[in-house]
Amino acid sequence: MSKKALVTGITGQDGAYLAQLLLSKGYEVHGLARRSSTSDVNLTRLNWLGIEKDVRIVDGNLLDLSGLIRTMRDVKPDEVYNLAAQSFVKSSWQQPILTGEVTALGVTNILEAVRLEKPDARFYQASSSEMYGLIQEDMQSETTPFYPRSPYAVAKLYGHWLTVNYRESFGLHASSGILFNHESPLRGIEFVTRKVTDSVARIKLGIANELRLGNIDAKRDWGHSKDYVEAMWLMLQQDEADDYVVATGLTTTVRDMCRIAFEHVGLAMDDHLVIDPDLFRPAEVDVLLGNPTKAKEKLGWQAKTSLEEMITEMVDADLKRLG
Ligand code: NAP
Ligand code: GDD
Repeated sequence: MSKKALVTGITGQDGAYLAQLLLSKGYEVHGLARRSSTSDVNLTRLNWLGIEKDVRIVDGNLLDLSGLIRTMRDVKPDEVYNLAAQSFVKSSWQQPILTGEVTALGVTNILEAVRLEKPDARFYQASSSEMYGLIQEDMQSETTPFYPRSPYAVAKLYGHWLTVNYRESFGLHASSGILFNHESPLRGIEFVTRKVTDSVARIKLGIANELRLGNIDAKRDWGHSKDYVEAMWLMLQQDEADDYVVATGLTTTVRDMCRIAFEHVGLAMDDHLVIDPDLFRPAEVDVLLGNPTKAKEKLGWQAKTSLEEMITEMVDADLKRLG
């Protein structure tokens, strides 16, 4: 009998790569997705990977507890991956209440559904390096204190501690992956790497001339989504649930990431980059740098894709899309 997984956020970047990984391992994959008036459910990313017909889509929303309970009862998953969230940090200042409802309280809803209907299911919570915010240690590990700097990060912190709490209170096999930034050709266009690779492709093709960015001094520890979903799966294969940092252990400025993209197509970044004060955030996370030692030692996981490989893959994918 194949294992069953329920993935929330199946239409997002990580949902697509995780579904691909689980299908390759023989899982029956159920994906929770909210319908929209424009396209029933947006399966663009699953389509890109050629797996849209292999995933069983369940109509649902993280805000709707009764629907989640029904889904848990019907699907009876062996593993639940909670990837759904309002995930764009900048929007969380514009929509702090929605962000709190989905990204924080939504975790309570799904954990309650697991506890009530399928308490032996293994649970993964998509926690975030954004929780470190104003960093308290140069390299952030599982024991580094948190200092969130956005409504999004505050909401993620709630989800993280609730996952720990349900593990300790009810004995759920609930793990929290503290993932540092990870990207891919399937990354949403509003995030900085994809904004850069899409703009560089447009400039190269002569359909745009400038790229407007905010704080290019910010530093991030960037990895590839395809590598990071493997760490999610590995966490749920352990005998004991636990929390893990997933990162590359390298940090790079937005400026240098951007330069890689321009150089890949033979353009000079300084001819096209414009700094726009409107794109700065009310509070910034200046630098993130993860320590993935625990994931390496306990899960046998490590990042495989370099930033250069990933950014050039993303630029090439955007050139192909636009061309
Ligand atoms: P993403 O591409 O923005 O995907 C978010 C997903 O959540 C989408 O499928 C979205 O559905 C869904 N969603 C939003 N609100 C929902 C609701 N109320 N009910 C049900 N589904 C809802 O994000 P991602 O990059 O794949 O990230 C996956 C998860 O990891 C998120 O929780 C994110 O916060 C977290 N995380 C990401 C990173 C990273 O660097 N990528 C790092 C650390 C943690 P629609 O398609 O309908 O909008
Ligand atoms: N999006 C964006 N757009 N960011 C810009 C821009 C711009 O025009 N200019 C500079 N930046 C800077 C931001 O200020 C931030 O310091 C950095 O680029 C990265 O921004 P994002 O790509 O939007 O990602 P993020 O780090 O805020 O959040 C992502 O990573 C988190 C993990 O650390 C998201 O995926 C979150 O969901 C995730 O939890």
